[in-house]
Amino acid sequence: MLEVSPIEPMPETPAPAYDKNNPFPACITERRRLTSTKGQKETVHFTINIAGSGLTYNCGDSLGVFSKNNPVAVEALLKANGFSGEEEVVLPRTETKTTLRKALTDQFVLSGPAKKFIQLVHDRVTNPTEKETLAAVLNNPDAVAQKAWLDNREFIDIAEEFPSARFSAQEYIENLRRLTPRLYSIASAPAQHPQEIQLTIAVVRYETNGRKREGVCSTFLSSRAPLNKAEVPVFVAAAHFGPPEDDSTPMIMVGPGTGIAPFRSFLQDRAARATKGKNWLFFGDQHRESDFLYEDELTEYLQQGVLTELSTAWSRDQEYKIYVQDRMRERGADLWQWLQSGAYFYVCGDAKRMAKDVDAALHEIIATHGKMTPEAAAEYVKQLKKDKRYQRDVY
Ligand SMILES: Cc1cc2nc3c(=O)[nH]c(=O)nc-3n(C[C@H](O)[C@H](O)[C@H](O)COP(=O)(O)OP(=O)(O)OC[C@H]3O[C@@H](n4cnc5c(N)ncnc54)[C@H](O)[C@@H]3O)c2cc1C
Ligand SMILES: NC(=O)c1ccc[n+]([C@@H]2O[C@H](COP(=O)([O-])OP(=O)(O)OC[C@H]3O[C@@H](n4cnc5c(N)ncnc54)[C@H](OP(=O)(O)O)[C@@H]3O)[C@@H](O)[C@H]2O)c1
Repeated sequence: MLEVSPIEPMPETPAPAYDKNNPFPACITERRRLTSTKGQKETVHFTINIAGSGLTYNCGDSLGVFSKNNPVAVEALLKANGFSGEEEVVLPRTETKTTLRKALTDQFVLSGPAKKFIQLVHDRVTNPTEKETLAAVLNNPDAVAQKAWLDNREFIDIAEEFPSARFSAQEYIENLRRLTPRLYSIASAPAQHPQEIQLTIAVVRYETNGRKREGVCSTFLSSRAPLNKAEVPVFVAAAHFGPPEDDSTPMIMVGPGTGIAPFRSFLQDRAARATKGKNWLFFGDQHRESDFLYEDELTEYLQQGVLTELSTAWSRDQEYKIYVQDRMRERGADLWQWLQSGAYFYVCGDAKRMAKDVDAALHEIIATHGKMTPEAAAEYVKQLKKDKRYQRDVY
């Protein structure tokens, strides 16, 4: 008798070999500044080669990137604390031994000292003036002022302002937070670029406590990571954010600044597959002349009809601010019609202010043009969210 063994169900997709715990050492093959030096922004386009990794991605996903601290900042911190850098340390929660220099470069954040650390420095300083200063900070009854003092300082400031405190290398790293991977919205579509992932990154630079500061990962990628060398550990982070399943569904996309990234992916996807759905992009940044990210591509999409509408808001080209939500309000009647015809509404970019203000404008437009009370407009928005027709990727 023929024996038939039951067929094992095949897993639908094999588990990816590379993930957050086992990132793929990828190559940056292209690094191109998108903003001109005439403006204040430094926004950069990257192409990351993922060929041979087995990694796949969908429109709306993000790329996780592991980065390293600037070696100049590491050396300054070692020097200010009186370390050579060759001290041996054991990474907390692992048995891994490494040098202090390597730990400070690869594993820890050199900004954001916690109040607990300031207490430790206070207990350790031998100089009476330093102790007095720290006591005043720690005992400050004004919590806002105390937080501002802390927020203005990185570990280098503490080391230089309170040099009489001394620590063992091990003790020092145990007061630092671990450096975590940063996420970036993917700006390319797999339908056009299955073997590469493109990113749109604003380089973070600012000043606090009279010192120039820089974001770890955005400056690592823009200045320190080598080109064409498989040295940038990455993984794909799947998102609950993506284009509608039905290609004929209209999309309204609000993405000022780097918020444009996933919408470039959505548009590439729709262009590659010549879909029929209408597409409306609200984009904005400081100045039209210097900060019109992907201007050529967007203009071409408009000419080809891939983009049905492009509404731009240049916040600093006039005396008063014009933001994407102002453009939404101006076109409120049309926006309402798009929503009524089933459009999905997407927002990407700054979470703190922009996404909140865009949300308020959306409520207002629905109330005005849908002739609804604010409560009914809020219900309408709630239903959009339930139907996954209002999606946000904000940070
Ligand atoms: C899902 C998701 C998608 C994202 N997509 C993108 C994207 O497409 N493009 C993109 O550029 N970013 C994106 N980000 C943000 C990105 O992950 C990083 O947060 C960003 O690049 C900063 O990282 P960094 O390591 O360079 O800076 P960090 O070293 O992390 O420094 C940033 C920190 O510096 C401080 N800081 C920044 N500016 C100032 C200031 N003016 N004054 C005082 N303090 C300040 C703040 O504490 C801030 O948290 C995304 C984030 C998420 C969660
Ligand atoms: N630390 C912060 O406070 C802060 C604030 C914003 C962004 N970020 C971060 O900076 C990084 C890069 O930002 P980005 O390049 O994407 O651009 P962005 O700084 O968000 O700016 C893009 C455009 O949005 C405008 N904008 C500012 N406030 C707005 C609001 N309330 N509503 C609508 N538009 C508004 C900006 O105008 P103006 O600049 O002329 O006002 C600019 O024209 C991101 O990681 C973001 O999270 C941090």
